[in-house]
Amino acid sequence: MPKEKYKRTLVTAALPYANGPLHIGHLAGAYLPADIYVRYLRLKGEDVVFVCGSDEHGAAITLRAKKEGISPREIIDKYHSINQKSFEDFGISFDIYHRTSDPVHIETSQAVFKKLHENDKFIEKTTEQFYDTEHNMFLADRYVMGTCPKCGYDSAYGDQCENCGTSLNPTELINPKSVLSNKTPELRETTHWFLPMNDYQEWLEEWIIKEKKGVWKTNVYGQCKGWLTQKLQPRAMTRDLDWGVPVPLEGAEGKVLYVWLDAPIGYISATKAWAETHNKDWEKYWKSEDTRLLHFIGKDNIVFHAIIFPIILKAHGDFILPENVPANNFLNLEGKKISTSRDWAVWVGEYMNDFPEQGDALRYVLTAIAPETSDSEFTWKDFQQRNNSELVATLGNFVHRTLVLTHKYFEGKVQPKGTMAVYDKQVLEAVGIQKQKIEQAIENFHFRDAQYELLELARIGNKYLADTEPWKLIKEDKELVGTILNVASQLSANLAILMRPFLPKAAEKLAYMLNFDYLSTVFDWEKVGKEDLLTPFVPFREAELLFEKIEDKTVAAQLEKLEQKALANQKPKEAKSEIKFEDFQSMDIRVATITAAEKVKKANKLLQLTLQTGLDTRTVVSGIAAYYKPEDIIGKQVCVLVNLAPRKIRGIESQGMILMAEDKDGKLAFVSPSQAVSDGSTIA
Ligand code: MF3
Ligand code: ZN
Repeated sequence: MPKEKYKRTLVTAALPYANGPLHIGHLAGAYLPADIYVRYLRLKGEDVVFVCGSDEHGAAITLRAKKEGISPREIIDKYHSINQKSFEDFGISFDIYHRTSDPVHIETSQAVFKKLHENDKFIEKTTEQFYDTEHNMFLADRYVMGTCPKCGYDSAYGDQCENCGTSLNPTELINPKSVLSNKTPELRETTHWFLPMNDYQEWLEEWIIKEKKGVWKTNVYGQCKGWLTQKLQPRAMTRDLDWGVPVPLEGAEGKVLYVWLDAPIGYISATKAWAETHNKDWEKYWKSEDTRLLHFIGKDNIVFHAIIFPIILKAHGDFILPENVPANNFLNLEGKKISTSRDWAVWVGEYMNDFPEQGDALRYVLTAIAPETSDSEFTWKDFQQRNNSELVATLGNFVHRTLVLTHKYFEGKVQPKGTMAVYDKQVLEAVGIQKQKIEQAIENFHFRDAQYELLELARIGNKYLADTEPWKLIKEDKELVGTILNVASQLSANLAILMRPFLPKAAEKLAYMLNFDYLSTVFDWEKVGKEDLLTPFVPFREAELLFEKIEDKTVAAQLEKLEQKALANQKPKEAKSEIKFEDFQSMDIRVATITAAEKVKKANKLLQLTLQTGLDTRTVVSGIAAYYKPEDIIGKQVCVLVNLAPRKIRGIESQGMILMAEDKDGKLAFVSPSQAVSDGSTIA
């Protein structure tokens, strides 16, 4: 359906797990672009609803509860309110921030499950799943960690590798370990309801590969195509856990819905809850073909929103499908991956504490560097620079000069336009041109570009003042200066409206200073670039700075704080339990020389090494590519566990394991004999 045919839009932003605070990576990935989009539609007077809420089930919650030593309920209550407040303070304008522990959601998700079950959309299957005999429980999803079979990342979760984004089954992990006991789990039989995703393969090929080509962002489309090429497999939609939405069937005690089944249904529950309190009909937003459904997410959520949830919606039959799934990549921080566990993050709550008046500055920078097409990076230095040179010196400076000069020469009153020169007209025409560029970029989810075009208009304004020099002209031709400042003021008023989706607080402040009530319907998006927004002789209010400069010492303090916390969080790994001497002796560790080394194709962490072990020549695959270049390690002596059962990594048989020292940051270094010894020397 062409865009114009839609009567309403439902925007969802990924429900964050209520298991920790929000950081700038969350904002840049999903919430900020969604918020800009929604504010834009609202400004255009469209029917739009923006739903979000806490994702309160799954191992992400129970594991965090265990770590903090409190109950899952306490965890979700704690982080639900913290996160709700952070979003509010930062200015993400959800219509509702719901939660998946709410009774409305339990009921809604159970009803979806029941209908699918009644219509034979699931396959009941008994399979072998990992079981921790020490803790007497099945290990779902994140309860198992191991090496990713796709990219070799050694801390992949049982349901997903966060490094390469692949969705996994726990049994696919190499060297799986229970996160509870750190032991290798055993396999036990259990029964679950599976979604035969393979049955939807053809339909998805039609819907995504054909229909969404050129419509969905290339990173989203590409990922989907990858999964479809690999062929979809049945996936269990239930779990053996004591935390979650109970499976609404008799004889299913102790089983809950898979969190990735229940959570997206949370969007429906949230819409219901919103409609309830706003006297609206929720069904229109989910069942009517003239509703446009959009899911804003981060890249690790693509498979769930573009493949699994659409299958659920389709199988259910009553619901519409997402028209688009605008997903962003990841944001790094000061050269490293953002990490909650290592406290390497800029937390939204802390930022708002430290910069209570500068929420818009963070919005601005996160949009300017948004990871729209590839991962991007936030640094405090860049934050300062963009704030100072773009917000303060360009946008803020232009409107400030306009206001100050109008106060100085005309008691703060806009003058009528006199004769308009070509340049004056050009400047006003630029408003319409920039508006169109902004609209087009926003509608294509190119928020970086959109914001750039907004700033471009302020640049045009600055240049106009610099070129016309009203401060020189004032002595000769006051009337002409009146015209110039009228033009600059109209430009500022237009900016106040165009800024609103991006910089809502600054937009409001600017409108206040210009003394126009931008909340009234007189000033709407449609009027931008079309007619004068300011009436002559209506006085401006006092000119205040729109944005504040950020000083060097502020940046230094933030960097210092980041480093300090990261250091404080570097706890050594927990000591392992005692072993017998024989356990140690059973390991055959030898000194070996590396005789050849090369990168493993399409696995950026892995090197394939050839070793002379004194016993034989063998191949070992090792995850050290980030720390050693192949050409630098030829001839190096290392220690190898030679009697480890061989295993296939990326199709290569790895015959042993090289001993590595690993620091708290995951940095790796070879363990080598302190002087040369013959290959095959034993280590004990
Ligand atoms: N909680 C998930 C995450 O943080 C996102 C859930 S999105 C939803 O990755 F659709 F499932 F709600
Ligand atoms: Zn991976």
